[in-house]
Amino acid sequence: MKKLVIAIDGPAGSGKSTAARLLAERLGLLYLDTGAMYRAATLACIRKGVNFDADDDIINCVRNCNIRLQYQEGKLEVYLDGREVTEDIRLPVVNKHISRVSEILEVRKLMVEKQRSIGSQGAVVEGRDITTVVFPDADFKFYLDADFDVRVDRRYKEVVSKGMGVDREEVAKDLENRDRSDTTRKYGPLRKAEDAVYIDTTGMSIEDVVREMLRHITAADNDPVSFF
Ligand code: DC
Repeated sequence: MKKLVIAIDGPAGSGKSTAARLLAERLGLLYLDTGAMYRAATLACIRKGVNFDADDDIINCVRNCNIRLQYQEGKLEVYLDGREVTEDIRLPVVNKHISRVSEILEVRKLMVEKQRSIGSQGAVVEGRDITTVVFPDADFKFYLDADFDVRVDRRYKEVVSKGMGVDREEVAKDLENRDRSDTTRKYGPLRKAEDAVYIDTTGMSIEDVVREMLRHITAADNDPVSFF
């Protein structure tokens, strides 16, 4: 059976995580959230108290930490050195340092290598550089986007629903900063691959987004049965 790889990129709040997870479920594929890997790597650096001004310290820490992603009843669980960090990787302190960690080439190489080894078994993989660097030859490539304010609203609701106190201004600032660093970093910046399908999710529900992606996937395949 063909090992289908579906690559999805887009900025924070574009809906790609939820859409990717649902798409993977529908297609019976593994879902790989690469942002969770960068988040766990960043948390490892925070916990080890690395000097964030020193690339080598960060690289050493990331190289020596053990990150494991696992799915329990459809929910992602993230483990760092054997301990669950699923909630902790979403803390504001991680958002604060993540751009610094993810701009380092050696860190990205370590991540990309892991992502390729997991994803090539067949997966829906989402992040920032998946369609351009990690799986440029993926069977299907999508770029999800949405208006800034809508993305802020989605992130804000997500954080509030987890019981964390935060104000909308703070969420907007974080998103703005991450948009800037994600699109301008030297290695693996967020950009739309030329051959990726662009989906503006601004006025769409998650169901609409998944349906749209499935439409492209099934339309391109003359014999869907061989895929799924
Ligand atoms: O998808 P997310 O918002 O959880 O990702 C958090 C950060 O991780 C993002 O702002 C940049 C980094 N990241 C990356 O550099 N490359 C990826 N493929 C995925 C995430």
